[in-house]
Parts: sequence; structure tokens; C-alpha cells
Amino acid sequence: MKPAILLIGPNGQVGRELKKMLPRAFELTSLDRQKVDLARPVDIREAVRAVRPAIIVNAAAYTNVDKAESEPDLARAINSEAPAVLAEEAKKIGACLVHYSTDYVFDGTKTEPYSENDPANPRNVYGKTKLEGELAIQASGAPYLIFRTAWVYATEGRNFLLTILRLATQREELKIVRDQTGAPTTSAEIARATTEILMRAGAPGNNHFSLANCSGIYHMTAAGQATWFDFAEQILEHARKVEANAPWFQATTGNLPLIARRILPIATSEFPTPARRPAYSVLSNELLTRTFSVRLPDWQTQLVSIFSPPPR
Ligand SMILES: NC(=O)c1ccc[n+]([C@@H]2O[C@H](COP(=O)([O-])OP(=O)(O)OC[C@H]3O[C@@H](n4cnc5c(N)ncnc54)[C@H](OP(=O)(O)O)[C@@H]3O)[C@@H](O)[C@H]2O)c1
Repeated sequence: MKPAILLIGPNGQVGRELKKMLPRAFELTSLDRQKVDLARPVDIREAVRAVRPAIIVNAAAYTNVDKAESEPDLARAINSEAPAVLAEEAKKIGACLVHYSTDYVFDGTKTEPYSENDPANPRNVYGKTKLEGELAIQASGAPYLIFRTAWVYATEGRNFLLTILRLATQREELKIVRDQTGAPTTSAEIARATTEILMRAGAPGNNHFSLANCSGIYHMTAAGQATWFDFAEQILEHARKVEANAPWFQATTGNLPLIARRILPIATSEFPTPARRPAYSVLSNELLTRTFSVRLPDWQTQLVSIFSPPPR
């Protein structure tokens, strides 16, 4: 019999990919916001008690970084308090909680990749609430895996890739920030790495590699690093090159031609946003690779696979 997994947030970028991949090895129950509203602790408790899974994967979060500045209570309820309740319920039934966090827990003052041991010091409400969620899970006593990821994108959802493609149909010149550096990561690679880790850890007789033994925070991002400007340049280069007849591409561009001719690098100060963001938030994935033998491809390879998905 396959182990039972409860997936919260199956309609987000990461959740959608997990929903496709997890059933390979698990008996999956996925509950969307209509079934479990993370702002309502009672929903969470009832769902976990009803499903009694071996593993809970929480792919839901309050992810609107700028809006969180004006909705701190809602962001805190979803990103800090809900994970605490999930972890408390997980502990009661002996389940492992798998949760995602963010590079925005760091302040961005480093100039080389952050390790899991570097002190967190978030600069915005989103980062603060995500850090509070991490701390609550760690304090709960439940077995847990927290994967910190970054700059997530997919062919659906609200993300930089789709924004750039849309803007490229509207403007000849795009101005893009060049003083923030991170690692653009596809939700498919995050889901693939998560599924691989859970499959291997859940394999019968695999005692030295049980989820409880591996409890901890792990960085899970694309290899390499890029600025938003680099990322935008590569997006447009690929978009112009490939025969872009994928339905997601047509839906994004509305079948309009890409008229953007130039991308101008600008400073963050020229593009003020409600939330401050770290200037540098590249995460070292060394611990993930050492512990689980899992490595995500570099960000350029991931971008290529978005435009020309490999056959499955
Ligand atoms: N996006 C990024 O760039 C990024 C960067 C670093 C870390 N992360 C982390 O990675 C994880 C996955 O992010 P993502 O990009 O996949 O997020 P996403 O695409 O924004 O999806 C978030 C999901 O959370 C759900 N949700 C929001 N409020 C909820 C509530 N009150 N109750 C139940 N569900 C709720 C949404 O439901 P609806 O579909 O109903 O709206 C949505 O399906 C999150 O933990 C996020 O913090 C993301």
C-alpha cells in the first residue's frame, strides 16, 4: 500500500506540479482553499484528523510580497500561524510536515551563497512571516523538511516569466532591475526534487534515511545565479528563438507579436516597490545535495525546459 500524503495548496505553482508527481509513489489527497482555508485553524485541524496522512506537504502560502506590507495580519495568519497548526497536528499523528520557505528570510548583505546556518534577517513582511513559520515548525517537535526556494516561475500563475512576455507585447523598451541577484527556479524542478526525496526517504527498510532523521531546513533552488535583468534577457532571447506555439505562450501573449527591442538595466531605487527586497539572495544547495543526493539544474537549463519541455 502506498503511504498517504495530504497536499495543501494544489493550485499554486509548486502545488500543481506536486499534484502531478506525487501520485507516482503516494496515495494523494489534495485539498484546495475551498476545503482548507489556512486562515482558519479549525479547517486545518479537521483535514489532518480526517486524512491521517504519513506526510503533509504544504505548498500554500501568502506569496504576494508587496501586498503583504499592507496585509501583515493575513500574511502572518497564513505564513506563520497556519504552519504552526499544521506542525502541531502532524506531531499528534506522527506525520512528517514538508513546507516551503524563501530566500527572502535573508537580508541580502552577503556576496556569496547563503547556507542554512547563516542568520536570517528578513527585510519585508513576507520574509518575516515566512521566517516565523519556519521557527514554529522547528519548535513543534514534529518531523519536518523545510525547503527554502526562490524566484519561482512556471507557465501558469503570477510570475516574472509571464509578466515579461506580456510586457514584451506592449512595449518596445523594458526597464529591468539589475542590482538584485538570485536563482530563478521552476516549480517543476522544486516538485521533482521534493518527490524524489520523499520517495527515497519513504522507501521501506530505509532506516538511515527516514524523514525523521533528516528533519531540517534545506536550500532548494536552481544552480547558478542571475539578476532580474539577466533573466529577462534570456526569456526574450528564448521567446524569439523558439517556435512559440505552446498554449501557455499563446495565452500569455494573446498571440500578439513581441515588440520589445531593448532591455535597459535599472537600479532598484528607480523601481520603488512597497516591499524591500534583498540585493543578493543566492542560496547554496550543498546541504540538499549532500543529504539527499539531489541537485537542481542551473537556471538557464530550467528556462530552456520551460520553452522546450523534454518528452516525458
Ligand atoms: N513564488 C515565489 O517566487 C516563491 C519564492 C520563494 C519561496 N516561495 C515559496 O514556495 C511555496 C510555493 O509558492 P508558489 O509560488 O507555488 O505560490 P503561489 O503560486 O502563489 O500559490 C500559493 C497557493 O497558496 C494558496 N493559498 C493562499 N492563501 C491560502 C489560504 N488562506 N488557504 C489555502 N490556500 C491558500 C493559493 O490558493 P488559490 O489558488 O486559491 O489562490 C495558491 O494555490 C510557498 O511557500 C512560497 O512562500 C515562493
